[in-house]
Amino acid sequence: MAGHSHRAQQACEHDGHAHSHGGAEEHGRHHPHVHSHDAAADDDEAEAEAEASALADVVAALLYYKTFMLNSGIYRRLHHIDELPARHRAVVSSLGIIDKIKDAERLVRENYRFLQGIVHASAVGAVPSPIDSPEQFKAWSGEFLDGRDGPRSGHMEKVLSTLKQLVRDWSEEGRAERDQTYGPIIGSLEREFAGVAPEDRGAIRVLVPGAGLGRLAFDICCRGFSSQGNEFSYFMLLASNYILNQTQAAGQHTIYPFVHQFSNVATAADQLRPVRVPDVLPSDMPHAGTAAFSMVAGDFIEVYSAESEREQWDAIVTCFFVDTAKNALAYLDTMWHAMKPGAVWINLGPLLWHFDGIEGESSVEFTRDEFVALVAAVGFKLDDAQFRECVPATYTANSRGMLQYTYSSFMCVARKPRQGAPLSSSL
Ligand SMILES: C[S@@+](CC[C@H](N)C(=O)[O-])C[C@H]1O[C@@H](n2cnc3c(N)ncnc32)[C@H](O)[C@@H]1O
Repeated sequence: MAGHSHRAQQACEHDGHAHSHGGAEEHGRHHPHVHSHDAAADDDEAEAEAEASALADVVAALLYYKTFMLNSGIYRRLHHIDELPARHRAVVSSLGIIDKIKDAERLVRENYRFLQGIVHASAVGAVPSPIDSPEQFKAWSGEFLDGRDGPRSGHMEKVLSTLKQLVRDWSEEGRAERDQTYGPIIGSLEREFAGVAPEDRGAIRVLVPGAGLGRLAFDICCRGFSSQGNEFSYFMLLASNYILNQTQAAGQHTIYPFVHQFSNVATAADQLRPVRVPDVLPSDMPHAGTAAFSMVAGDFIEVYSAESEREQWDAIVTCFFVDTAKNALAYLDTMWHAMKPGAVWINLGPLLWHFDGIEGESSVEFTRDEFVALVAAVGFKLDDAQFRECVPATYTANSRGMLQYTYSSFMCVARKPRQGAPLSSSL
């Protein structure tokens, strides 16, 4: 994985559930601005420690998955059936429900094998291979978890949403969702650089902040652009590292992302269905000779407001990202700083302000119209012809579930003028 390493964070909150932030201590730390040399060294050390501990918490959550899901998802359910009056139990059993739960148990174990692979690839020390040395892996895992008291609050949900995010980004089943969202973004990018043939686009640098599992950035690179994803969730970074850097064949892994869902399910087959990932072989990039691809770990504002990032990017694309801001203006200022004069910004997504109503967090929320006005106020030139008020888009939806959330997302395309200071600097 290339690039910086700043404190990493939570996974996405767009999957249709209520906000479930993990607590203030999980959120990004900004570098203090003024301090003496020694204080700076202390701060760096403290930050490195905080990062290592955040990474260890995420690895622990991946390792806890099996025990946690077997206890809370499988054995608890079997126990509830066991507690039923004998006649009821007999009916439930005759419908094959106990067998289904036992199948689910097997699939949870399969998911765990996949998660073990992520941990093995994560470079959190000398992790034994879960395939070649399963006993050593088990012993290592026991030691790793020693002294811990279960996963951190909210982290098990993030393991489950990472599995669903793999469907969105790296499965055939996720194609429809990607077409709804990544499709219009890539279409707009293609139009912007229509005069440049894919083999000549390597010099065009496209940044994808909040890249999730990296598929949008990857697909952009497959069109010949040099692209860089930026992400600060260790869940996302570890999983994307595994898929992008450790895959030997398309469809190499089979996961069961919906096995944990017992409500709003039409058929057992829907719940237990396998999903193969990744749908493509990531190392098989058509323009690898000309187009560069990278994922950079860290907070978007911290990484891209650096002096070295000034006017470096020909395009920025944001998908389901701008509403992760506590202060959207800080995102806009960072984009302005990092974009070359004349560069384009393409955005698609809803406005589920992630910090809205979160205890102890500051948050400024904008309506869509206010947000668009803000973009113009900063100095960007909106492309009215490409503005779309309502782009129906799901986010890690279970396409066969009985409940579907669809966002009326908006799409906007804006350019940084070739000349002129950002208006926000004089606001
Ligand atoms: C809703 S998800 C969208 C992911 C991806 N763009 C997609 O469409 O699937 C938002 C992502 O932004 C990341 N994120 C949020 N704030 C960030 C920040 N300040 N810097 C970097 N990444 C951030 C989150 O970890 C999360 O993966």
